[in-house]
Amino acid sequence: MKKVIITGASGMLGRALVAEFTKQSWDVLGLAYSRAEGALKKVDLRDGEAVRNVFKEFKPAVVVHAAVERKPDVVENQEEEARKINVTATETVAKTCAEIGAFLVFFSTDYVFDGTKPPYKPGDAPNPLNKYGIQKVEGEKVVQATQPNSAILRVPILYGQVEFLKESAVTVLAEALLDTSKQAKMCDYQIRFPTYTKDLAVVCRQLAEKHLQDPTIKGLFHWSSTERMTKYSMVTVIADIFGLSHDHLIANKEPPTGTPRPYNCQLDTSALEAFGIIGQRTPYRDGIKECLEPYMKK
Ligand SMILES: NC(=O)c1ccc[n+]([C@@H]2O[C@H](COP(=O)([O-])OP(=O)(O)OC[C@H]3O[C@@H](n4cnc5c(N)ncnc54)[C@H](OP(=O)(O)O)[C@@H]3O)[C@@H](O)[C@H]2O)c1
Repeated sequence: MKKVIITGASGMLGRALVAEFTKQSWDVLGLAYSRAEGALKKVDLRDGEAVRNVFKEFKPAVVVHAAVERKPDVVENQEEEARKINVTATETVAKTCAEIGAFLVFFSTDYVFDGTKPPYKPGDAPNPLNKYGIQKVEGEKVVQATQPNSAILRVPILYGQVEFLKESAVTVLAEALLDTSKQAKMCDYQIRFPTYTKDLAVVCRQLAEKHLQDPTIKGLFHWSSTERMTKYSMVTVIADIFGLSHDHLIANKEPPTGTPRPYNCQLDTSALEAFGIIGQRTPYRDGIKECLEPYMKK
């Protein structure tokens, strides 16, 4: 049985990864921190010795590193704390993978780009606009320098099975939709490509399996859905699915204020597809319905 360690297994993407690798009969060890429950093992990735001990004991063929501090506003305000997980822990994971000979898949973000010249190919120069993007570029660099036997998978805004609506920047839109007591502005400016974690987990598993068959499959890759949306268009689809009014939501055509965010980071996914990694693309309408149904029935 092929073995995989998944970091960030309690997170939104991590739980989809655990489900997908398990379904395909991999021997999965999921690592988590504050939400380490059930089969998940509690490991603080900022503790290098703990990481090395777990990796050396389990001896995975593949490590999928999805642990992160990803909220741009948190990274902006608590930069050094966030760097410990986004950069330093990533270096520890990469070093340990190199020591034990495990293939590493590191998740990164479309926010490494400035959003002015889409679509972006993996070789295009990053130019992050905010500290989260800067730290993810730093994470990419330590992975490339430390474990050449790795893949970096940049992905856009994600949604998936959530433990609470605020867990994803997409599912949280339902909160404003359900609260008809007040008007709310919804961004109708920034172009996004909301991608379902279930689809991404399939792509990641296929990438790991392809690499084990052909070790030359490695390096920088992009994955994304192809549905071009804004937060306003995402929320109107949710309203339509569940037969709700969105009259209290106002389309805001102005660029967002606060933490700088890129305009359009559309990712070109052809490099991955050229290797026959085509995954699956659930239509947004179907995917978001699946994820929100438990909340809308309440
Ligand atoms: N979500 C998006 O829209 C999005 C967009 C683009 C790229 N990505 C990338 O996708 C990947 C996964 O993101 P996500 O949305 O699944 O993140 P998430 O839901 O915020 O999950 C973060 C995970 O990191 C773990 N973690 C945080 N600090 C830790 C520590 N000190 N030690 C061990 N584990 C720690 C958390 O564990 P506990 O909760 O148990 O503490 C949790 O499992 C990241 O690389 C992110 O950059 C995400």
